[in-house]
Amino acid sequence: MAKARVAVLISGRGSNMAALVYAAKHPGCPFEIVLVAANDPEAPGLQFAQAEGIPTFALDHKGMKRAEFDALIDAQVRKAGTDYIALAGYMRLLSPEFVGKWEGRMLNIHPSLLPKYKGLHTHERAIAAGDTVAGCSVHVVTAELDDGPVLGQTEVAILPGDTPATLADRTLIAEHQLYSRELADYVTRESNPDWLLANIREIALALPETAEKPSHGSPGFFVEGGKFFAYFSHNHHQNGITGLLVKTSGVEEQAMLIDSDPALYYRPAYLGPSGWIGISLDQRPVDWAHVGEWLAKSWRMSAPKRLTKLLDVIDQI
Ligand code: GAR
Repeated sequence: MAKARVAVLISGRGSNMAALVYAAKHPGCPFEIVLVAANDPEAPGLQFAQAEGIPTFALDHKGMKRAEFDALIDAQVRKAGTDYIALAGYMRLLSPEFVGKWEGRMLNIHPSLLPKYKGLHTHERAIAAGDTVAGCSVHVVTAELDDGPVLGQTEVAILPGDTPATLADRTLIAEHQLYSRELADYVTRESNPDWLLANIREIALALPETAEKPSHGSPGFFVEGGKFFAYFSHNHHQNGITGLLVKTSGVEEQAMLIDSDPALYYRPAYLGPSGWIGISLDQRPVDWAHVGEWLAKSWRMSAPKRLTKLLDVIDQI
């Protein structure tokens, strides 16, 4: 499978970036570093990246509006064909526009056990609080500072006599181990059938009066008092595909869909002749909004009248 293309944003030393670069040199690593960008042309990490043959971009943010600066970074990151962004000691707040554009595709490493000690001076605060354990966290970046879902953490014992500097040094070793592991897991989660099923389940079970039960070895979703409207299919009869099966209006629509996008749609065994369609979940990235639309449409075709009556009325208006 193609490696995920990662751009790393730094502000200074860039030791976490270096750890990612070295991790990516392992042939089995699922990501490669395609760009290192800095908001300070003097950031020492840039030299390291250049020596390793990684394209770099640096621009001083001073005097620029946040969104304007972020748009320039965004343009460079896109030009590099980036799939994911890894913030590694990027000490600049991001504009909501930038965060929105990379929603679910940008990770950060923070030197504390989040949600404890967001922001700066984490080690100082942990020691002052009398904590016996500090650590680091990798999390998904959301609009709030250091606040997105935590993907993984490593605890670091605080030793008697630790200063913020000694604790930071030890925590950094843990950071270097944690980041590449979490990034590797994150970029491969879409090939993990358990993760794909968990997402499908969440969307499907949010539809009214829906439940799940296995059917012919596949997780199936049905409307209570109605019929099945979706199946999660993983390598069914060794077809090598992970997909979602939903209803169409019939074989004509099914044929049209396959014609329009043969990489996305397929005719599933058994249910194909009844007009069901397979939507491949092997595409990167999975278009979850599109999956959600299909689940809702298929639900509606399967739900009893008492549940769809209101929707029919809205349609007529
Ligand atoms: C790291 O400790 C990182 O966790 C921290 O800055 C340091 C950067 O070091 N990041 C933050 O505090 C972000 N809130 P590095 O440049 O050597 O990777």
